[in-house]
Amino acid sequence: MILDGSALSKTLREEVAEATRGSGVKPGLATILVGDDPASFSYVGSKQRACERAGFKAEDVRLPGQTTQAELEDVIQGLNARDDIHGVLVQQPLPKQIDTEVIVASVDPDKDVDGFHPVNLGRLMRGDRGFLPCTPFGITRLLSSAGISVSGKNVVIVGRSLLVGKPLALMFLAKMGQGGGLQDTGDATVTVCHSRTCDLPAVTLGADILVCAIGIPEFVRADMVREGATVVDVGINRVDDSTKPRGYRLVGDVMYDEVAEKAGAITPVPGGVGPMTVTMLLYNTLQSARKLYSQDPL
Ligand code: GUN
Repeated sequence: MILDGSALSKTLREEVAEATRGSGVKPGLATILVGDDPASFSYVGSKQRACERAGFKAEDVRLPGQTTQAELEDVIQGLNARDDIHGVLVQQPLPKQIDTEVIVASVDPDKDVDGFHPVNLGRLMRGDRGFLPCTPFGITRLLSSAGISVSGKNVVIVGRSLLVGKPLALMFLAKMGQGGGLQDTGDATVTVCHSRTCDLPAVTLGADILVCAIGIPEFVRADMVREGATVVDVGINRVDDSTKPRGYRLVGDVMYDEVAEKAGAITPVPGGVGPMTVTMLLYNTLQSARKLYSQDPL
């Protein structure tokens, strides 16, 4: 089974657009891009287009690479104060002169539709309602809509980042039925692996559900995957390819062709987790406009 994030996103984005029409408020998302990283440029463009299609107001703030910490904080304070902006997203990575942690913490937690603010991560840790980070949130949606329950399963996550690995582990661990957990994506037995893990294949072979989020192209090979396992590939890596018009192609963290032969279900790259991230951002922004959080029904 192919876990088609593009198809599911299409359905969910229509639901968001429909709920927006019925909500009596026009959700507003501001994205801030500092500098000219090509991948960030492309991600911000997708987020802006998706907002416009869903009937949102999309404010596209572009700042030069030399922007100072104080200038960026001023822009964020201005957006925090605006009634027509319900989500403020600072695209990462930020240039070296900027302290990313301070910037993330300067976004109003109730406009933090990325779910990266310490308050929202704390809410997730405690099992309280809040904004869930979009990539892990999208992964849980992709699994539940395919009828793949994580309850009682061995879930192995490769990667311990603050944006994906750690929050995803907390979501899968959540006690089902508890306020901050999602209705259908908790109660798993979760193992988190990283670059210092000893004998990684021995751990990943125990996975009913294997998630790879490390940013190393085609790292997971078939001999690391149990027959019939569900494989979720979070990687979006550009690798040089002179046969492509752009000079590169996108590959995941999983060697797709050989792992797909063995997996029971797998996410493709592109078209798997990637579109779900943007979809959950729309979802969070709509919820914010309605003064609700990620866990609340649309
Ligand atoms: N950089 C890579 N992914 C993301 C994301 O989901 N949000 C933000 N703000 N920056 C990112």
